[in-house]
Amino acid sequence: MNDTVNTVLQAKGVEKSFQGPDGLTIDVLRSADLKVHSGESLSIRGESGSGKSTFLNVISWLDQPDKGLVFWDGLEVPALSRQELARRRSEVLGFVFQSYYLMPELNVLENVVMASRMIRMIGRAEWNRAEQLLEKVGLQERLKQLPSKLSGGERQRVAIARALMNRPSVILADEPTGNLDEETASLVMELLLNLSRKEEASLVLVTHNPTFAARTDRQVMLSGGKFEEVS
Ligand SMILES: Nc1ncnc2c1ncn2[C@@H]1O[C@H](COP(=O)(O)OP(=O)(O)OP(=O)(O)O)[C@@H](O)[C@H]1O
Ligand SMILES: [Mg+2]
Repeated sequence: MNDTVNTVLQAKGVEKSFQGPDGLTIDVLRSADLKVHSGESLSIRGESGSGKSTFLNVISWLDQPDKGLVFWDGLEVPALSRQELARRRSEVLGFVFQSYYLMPELNVLENVVMASRMIRMIGRAEWNRAEQLLEKVGLQERLKQLPSKLSGGERQRVAIARALMNRPSVILADEPTGNLDEETASLVMELLLNLSRKEEASLVLVTHNPTFAARTDRQVMLSGGKFEEVS
């Protein structure tokens, strides 16, 4: 098997430290290695403050590592220019956050279609794609509504449709059900797992919920700044 081709996301020896409030250095990631294969779902667990969100920021190059390498679809990330980087990020990665981050002044359909603006002109094909995705998350009746009119679960379904808009290789989801009640959380998680599989996107899921973690193909724990496989 050609490992490079089948690895959609890779971190190699990634290190990241922050200056704490007392001036002391906190080593959050200490030579963290992780590979995400094409089509797989992977969950990351770890104590609060263990560096899960930091890792997602670094792997998506929204924050740079102090040391180590990051690859997207086998391509080393820092080799890209700033503009290429932003475009490539939109093509390769889809994001789902705990607090949705929808644009309040745009309606549901516009929120989804706007994900493609970094890559191409928005035309009929893009509007159709956005509409189809919103149908898949069960929001076909809500296309023209503003996010403020939606429940938390509905907002997160919009965010899932938006994350899939550009047919990404990977979806990065940071506690996507953290703000939802138990029942809504289960429904949203089901949708995220099923849709990412159907759309052939790998999924990296940060969650504190062991039941959700157990639903992914592979589970890892972030502890002491490194990943450990959970069997
Ligand atoms: N920009 C920053 N400046 C200083 N310290 C930071 C910064 N970002 C994160 N940290 C610190 O790095 C550590 C890891 O934070 P991070 O948010 O990655 O943890 P987490 O595993 O996502 O936690 P949680 O489960 O609570 O979301 C924490 O000690 C945090 O205070
Ligand atoms: Mg976090």
